Amino acid sequence: MNSKKILIIGASGQIGSELSLKLRELYGNDNVVASDIKEGNEELMSSGPFEIADATDQPRIEALIEQYKITDVYLMAAMLSGTAEKMPMKAWDLNMNSLFIILNLAKEKKIEKVYWPSSIAVFGPTTPKQDTPQTTIMEPSTVYGISKQAGERWCEYYFNKYGVDVRSIRYPGIISYKTLPGGGTTDYAIEIFHEALKTGTYTSFLSENTSLPMMFMEDAIKATIDIMQAPAENIKVRSSYNLAAMTFTPKELASEIKKQMPDFKISYVPDFRQAIADSWPASIDDSEAKKDWNWDFEYDLEKLTTAMFEGLKVNAVKEN
Ligand code: SER
Repeated sequence: MNSKKILIIGASGQIGSELSLKLRELYGNDNVVASDIKEGNEELMSSGPFEIADATDQPRIEALIEQYKITDVYLMAAMLSGTAEKMPMKAWDLNMNSLFIILNLAKEKKIEKVYWPSSIAVFGPTTPKQDTPQTTIMEPSTVYGISKQAGERWCEYYFNKYGVDVRSIRYPGIISYKTLPGGGTTDYAIEIFHEALKTGTYTSFLSENTSLPMMFMEDAIKATIDIMQAPAENIKVRSSYNLAAMTFTPKELASEIKKQMPDFKISYVPDFRQAIADSWPASIDDSEAKKDWNWDFEYDLEKLTTAMFEGLKVNAVKEN
């Protein structure tokens, strides 16, 4: 018997939209309430309950939790690295206050379980760049990274002090074709596919040899559901788990694209996001996630490239 009632906050976003559909498939449409400050895509809006809600509006979030008798919350609302640099205070307000609202509701036992994503942005220029360990130097130099680092500390604190069952993953750049991301540094690896199909060319805002950890959406969703379904005693890390799939540079991605589209052309005009990327790891050691809850990925660069082209072509057919 399924007694779960799930609320997703930030359900219209890049990860939230696909996560909501997967959770509806697993737990039943009526048991998964999607919410966001803005409406989402057609599939999200029509497949189950949807509520407009601001993640920082505590009375509204609390009312939804009461109304739907919510047990588990997935807090996916956040301002990403690029956008957060342009509005630091707004980013801090959204990223931190939304988390406190949920952690406090869990502390008061109004919900049972919380998922909150962290990011590779918690690392900084002084962090070892290759195979970045789970526990290492963390001096994030971006607004987004500072908020995620602080959030991780608070998650662990609420677990230790109040027994809040909060679980978290440090996502690498997430690559997907269904919903566009909102202002991240890793977004070039999505834009490149859209532009390749539209114009056959792309101007990257990161330089050709910028290595970043990346993951295909399907793997990210699987990781999110796996960590939430794992027995509580297996979750040894209560700040956030390192997670990895592949690492590539804009140049390496472009040559993979060229295999499928020989005339594709790329040029490089780095902007302010180059400094953000330069402060992040190139690759991640995720052995703790593998050990504690059997994490493994499926998509490498080649598989990801094929899946992106196929997905975007299907989308284009649907839109016409
Ligand atoms: N994809 C995110 C960003 O670039 C990293 O978590 O902001």
